[in-house]
Amino acid sequence: MRIDILTIFPEMFRSVLDASILGRAREQGLLDVRLTDIRPFSALKHKNTDDYPFGGGAGMVMLAQPIADAMASVCGENFRGRRIYLGPRGRKLTTALARELAREERLVLLCGHYEGVDQRALDTCVDEEISIGDYILTGGELAAMVLTDCVARFIPGVLGSAESPEEESFSEGLLEYPQYTRPREWNGLTVPEVLLNGDHAKIAAWRRQQSLLATARFRPDLLAEAALTPKERRWLAEQLETPDEETEG
Ligand SMILES: C[S@@+](CC[C@H](N)C(=O)[O-])C[C@H]1O[C@@H](n2cnc3c(N)ncnc32)[C@H](O)[C@@H]1O
Repeated sequence: MRIDILTIFPEMFRSVLDASILGRAREQGLLDVRLTDIRPFSALKHKNTDDYPFGGGAGMVMLAQPIADAMASVCGENFRGRRIYLGPRGRKLTTALARELAREERLVLLCGHYEGVDQRALDTCVDEEISIGDYILTGGELAAMVLTDCVARFIPGVLGSAESPEEESFSEGLLEYPQYTRPREWNGLTVPEVLLNGDHAKIAAWRRQQSLLATARFRPDLLAEAALTPKERRWLAEQLETPDEETEG
């Protein structure tokens, strides 16, 4: 998959794109990320990319022209993919959306800065707006990194064969169960016995129950939409009535 990122701060991306799983995916040719600096596309003498807002108000607004030209240069003719503006009023980035975006041949991500982008550029150069949450960042660059990282996990081969994006929090509408590693005992705290006995069916059942409990505790709002059997719903209701009871088995 190819992801183009249009930004006035391309230098912000290097360490994120070079390190860890994204770095490996790029080396293996599974993910092709190209950074495009919007500034050289400015038709103005001093290569400005922003100006004061019409109607007054604080801050600067990014000019439409450099963005439109940068977008045209990156997309060329017969573009197949999605052109996305990272912005706070967009559709919220979720696991389902990341999975959907990972099926595209190409994504183009436009990062805003300052007070935002001239609406005419958004009306003519992008297909949709995506937000990474209900808060305001100083720029779209961090949002573009978050989107790239979470979409990349769904590209076949990006995660090692032992890892699966489908076993993480949110993939089935539930949060993940707690994880433990060595040593078995640390500072007097032990690992749940069920994880040590090698019985995979029991481990899977325990993890499922822990997922249900974690979701009920941290994000009860998710339970309404999650795919629980009637038996699981009954079990969870019982646990929540008597929270200190043993939940193994
Ligand atoms: C300071 S923000 C502009 C906020 C804008 N004036 C508003 O109130 O909606 C600058 C840029 O950061 C990016 N940005 C800010 N918050 C974001 C969010 N939650 N998700 C995605 N991008 C965001 C957008 O690209 C935006 O153009």
